[in-house]
Amino acid sequence: MATLMAKPLAGCVARRAGAARPNPAQRNVMVAASAGTAALPAVRAGPALFEHITLRDLEIRNRIWMSPMCMYSAEEGMPSDWHLVHLGARAAGGCGLVMAEATAVLPEGRISPGCTGIWNDQQMEAWKPVTRFIRSQGAVAAIQLAHAGRKASTCSPYENRGAPLIPGKDPRAWPIYAPSAVPFDPSHQVPREMTQADIQMVTDAFVAAAKRAVEAGFQVIELHMAHGYLMHEFLSPISNKRTDEFGGSLENRMRAPLALAKAVRAAIPKGMPLLVRISATDHALPSDGPAWDVDQSVVLCRALQDRAGVDLVDVSSGGSLPRGFATVGPGYQVPFSERIRAEVGIPVGAVGMITQAAHAESILAEGLADVVFIGRELLRDPNWPLRAAAELGYAGAPYPFQYSLTPFPLGLKKGQGVSIP
Ligand SMILES: Cc1cc2nc3c(=O)[nH]c(=O)nc-3n(C[C@H](O)[C@H](O)[C@H](O)COP(=O)(O)O)c2cc1C
Repeated sequence: MATLMAKPLAGCVARRAGAARPNPAQRNVMVAASAGTAALPAVRAGPALFEHITLRDLEIRNRIWMSPMCMYSAEEGMPSDWHLVHLGARAAGGCGLVMAEATAVLPEGRISPGCTGIWNDQQMEAWKPVTRFIRSQGAVAAIQLAHAGRKASTCSPYENRGAPLIPGKDPRAWPIYAPSAVPFDPSHQVPREMTQADIQMVTDAFVAAAKRAVEAGFQVIELHMAHGYLMHEFLSPISNKRTDEFGGSLENRMRAPLALAKAVRAAIPKGMPLLVRISATDHALPSDGPAWDVDQSVVLCRALQDRAGVDLVDVSSGGSLPRGFATVGPGYQVPFSERIRAEVGIPVGAVGMITQAAHAESILAEGLADVVFIGRELLRDPNWPLRAAAELGYAGAPYPFQYSLTPFPLGLKKGQGVSIP
């Protein structure tokens, strides 16, 4: 890797009056320049995927990041050997950043009884071996802090397809709360409407969890504001029917999420990056009534950057409505990250069915995102980053020394096996 970090190129930030419209490559440099240190260098020695990225004081070795994925394998919120091996394998497999799953800041904020937590010191201690190993591999240890709101207290997807756990019917169930007393669907509990004291209590719990995460060795914190969980429930009119200052106008619906991001930002070290995952849209139909959409996401992201000091937005979608949404296909959420990056100028991550090295590379090279989050493809292949490097003909992939004598052959074709010499 020849160049460490992008310096915005002089003359590339603004288009001079009368100058020709930029081609996509030029546009990338321009957008990247406004996105600060996350910018790709204009001249690269290798693939964009393997360019370092700097957020605040943290330099991250590449732009292939592991998306947070619930493992439903914790007891009482405690991460286990599973989490060490699962997350550790992706760090050894070459990811730049490895994100631990949605981790509850309060016991009642878990999706299921098997979700991880960080609401007490015992859990904090249990995360330490995980972060130590991820870091020992040269990857960055990140954690997604979460509260499931009205989608809490369910089975894992592996049991009864994630059916709700109802108090009085199942001893594992717990009562739930949300911005409004509107259930996710008729089979779920009706949540209790949160008081303003509840909102403050949850904010405080996120702050306490963030401090524990820092102490546990995590280097990046992501706040989960997507997928129909508590903070998204405040944002979306689908789930927020409040008439106080936390409901109604967009500014009011953003109040709790923004206050949360601000409070966490103030509680963690200045040099530590803070990320937020959003659902860019509810994928609602006109018959669903007022809902969350990309226009509002643009306003939110601007506020997260300007008023809360958020460093990167991880752009997902959906989760407020029980039915499936839209058509999905490779990179189906990339248009959302592209628009937010272009209009807000905040660094963004793209996620969703990004499985091919060449596709991932083009997303970065065309300036549609600053990093790619890979989810299920990393479950299939923990060495995806190393394989991607070989497919792209790049010799500088971060192999652990223990594996360095048996790299994937350069120029490997997708799906091609490796012959043993
Ligand atoms: C098993 C599993 C668990 C997931 N858990 C989380 C989670 O904890 N937090 C989150 O924001 N998204 C979660 N997701 C969504 C993924 O992070 C990712 O956004 C989604 O799978 C789309 O990316 P992909 O097509 O690369 O898998 C989960 C997805 C899967 C498959």
